[in-house]
Amino acid sequence: MKTVDYKVTVYTGDLVGATTLNNVYIKLVGTDGESQRQWLIGLKWPVAFIGGEVSTFTVSCPTSLGKLVLIELDKQRLPIILQDPWFPAKVEVESPGGDIYKFPIYRWITDSEVHHFREGKALRVFEDSNHLGAYSREKELKQRSEDYCWDVYIKGIPHCIKADNPLDLPTEVRFSFTKTTEFAFTASTGLAELNLKGLAASQESWSNIDEIKQVFWVKHTKMSDYVQKHWKEDAFFGYQFLNGVNPMLIRRCSVLPSNFPVTNDMVFPKHQFNLEDEMKNGNIFLCDYKRLDGVETRLINGKKQYLMAPLVLLHKTPNEKLMPIAIQLKQTPTDDNPIFLPTDSEYDWLTAKIFVRSAEFSEHQLNVHLLRTHLLAEVFAVSLLRNIPKVHPLYKLLIPHTRYSLQINYLARKLLISKTGVFTAFAASGGEGMITILRNSLSSMTYRSLCIPEDIADRGLETVPNFYYRDDGLRLWEIIHRFVRGILQQYYKNDIEVQKDSELQKWIGDIFEHGFLSKPGTGIPQRFTTVPELVKFVTMVIFTGSCQHAAVNSGQFDYGGWMPNTPTSLQQPPPTKKGTTNEAMLLKTLPDVNTTAQGMATLWLLSKQSSDFVPLGQYPEEHFTEEIPRQLIKDFQAELKTLSSEIKDRNSILDIPYTYMDPTEVENSVAI
Ligand code: FE2
Repeated sequence: MKTVDYKVTVYTGDLVGATTLNNVYIKLVGTDGESQRQWLIGLKWPVAFIGGEVSTFTVSCPTSLGKLVLIELDKQRLPIILQDPWFPAKVEVESPGGDIYKFPIYRWITDSEVHHFREGKALRVFEDSNHLGAYSREKELKQRSEDYCWDVYIKGIPHCIKADNPLDLPTEVRFSFTKTTEFAFTASTGLAELNLKGLAASQESWSNIDEIKQVFWVKHTKMSDYVQKHWKEDAFFGYQFLNGVNPMLIRRCSVLPSNFPVTNDMVFPKHQFNLEDEMKNGNIFLCDYKRLDGVETRLINGKKQYLMAPLVLLHKTPNEKLMPIAIQLKQTPTDDNPIFLPTDSEYDWLTAKIFVRSAEFSEHQLNVHLLRTHLLAEVFAVSLLRNIPKVHPLYKLLIPHTRYSLQINYLARKLLISKTGVFTAFAASGGEGMITILRNSLSSMTYRSLCIPEDIADRGLETVPNFYYRDDGLRLWEIIHRFVRGILQQYYKNDIEVQKDSELQKWIGDIFEHGFLSKPGTGIPQRFTTVPELVKFVTMVIFTGSCQHAAVNSGQFDYGGWMPNTPTSLQQPPPTKKGTTNEAMLLKTLPDVNTTAQGMATLWLLSKQSSDFVPLGQYPEEHFTEEIPRQLIKDFQAELKTLSSEIKDRNSILDIPYTYMDPTEVENSVAI
């Protein structure tokens, strides 16, 4: 009898542990019928499914199956071989007529169950007309809603994935073997090297600044060396508000806050400038740490710790430097809360700046880094995994931008902010304080503040010179926006199609509820009504998980490795009047040796690129199989490449190169 032969090519992923020696079975399902479940055995048996291997088989059917809709895959162990996990990357099927059907998989198969994988053409729910396809879509979503459940870690902050240990996470979202090993290795060696020097146990104060250099030399980068040399300089202090790890606090100041009574005589004693005029001219800037006001601090080494909520006034000078001109360390202006000035004694001014930098540590880590990138990325990912099936264009677009985010956040909760976590133990705001700061920060997490064009405009920073976070960030936003628009316009031809996509609407509904706690004041959409609205939101999701996270994550050791530039905690109250500080006081104020060592080791771990890092816009997994989206991906990559060389050219003439948002240095997802 004449048969209809389908050529089936199976690609096993090229990663550690991807190989299976189990027997693999396939069934092809088409619009006109389905094949028998067939054992994929061929010349290469038993090594057809080893990591990186491409193996071809023939599946014969009595009649044509029509258009292929899905495949069913399963694997069964042999009596003498254990059930071993398998990571198939994709399956390609060529019909007798020469049509190629691609089935993206990119997930672990660890059991002997039958798994369905849809053909690669992206389909929205209302066009998924084949009944078998629709059934498989429903089944997938039901399974996902059981695998990915919401949990409340701390009331009043975004919700997270429910998982009691990393093995509770579905295998498809876990760290790779490489990533797991490297992460564990860095975490232990960072401390081990410091432990060897007997520092991690020492509860002593530093006896002089030079002594800190000895610890610092265990780990350092070019930039952290620069910081060590320049940390005391006012121009560098100002520079960090623009291009350090937290470019999110500074804003233009046109009216002084009523609780910050700075006078012209204080800041311009020789009447070089006039404060009112300079505010009018747009040359005065403010950093207000009001979210930290009244935050409870913890004990470290049995000693009370101090965290201020400072106000910092900065002046853009004619030679385009941003210079701090006044610092008030507490929010309420009183006689025992002096306004410190650069004209004060060396140690008064330096101490005031150190209190600002220490407040900066808590503000940056909790609000800017943890809340506004890590926790949000997790919300976007969990909502995607619960509500959007693999065949949906949004899944194909966003899944690479969720890689490792669930597991890194699980680890952050366990190793950093739990009761015994490093942050809890060694930051002034560890414990209760952290919860207060996160809750205070949530109200400022508006949709506008998450979209860099609006954020920069709202903070009045459009024309500030030497602001590379803004320059690179705006370019990246535009490039991502163009890419997202191209892809989504391909699938959503008009607003009605957006409105009737029930899966898409569930995705944003879950984000509004679990990420923004159903607060309409955040401006986060509760549903999508137009294509441009959808495009903008998805742009924000990709930008937040990649560019924004890189901007606030990658420089942590660069700027924090030299402890005096970013102390995790301070252990003396700030001076209540001027003229009472000296070097000895300052050393007593800085964190103890063990706190310094723990802080350094943690920042080192969190700044380190993993060797399976995937840069922005690279998609080693081919979820999109159609021609137009694949071309749009190439265009996106070309634009990123051009931007990267422009950034490199610009950096080559800068004293301090700004590398964090160079597309080759930006990771696709929150993964560290
Ligand atoms: Fe991070």
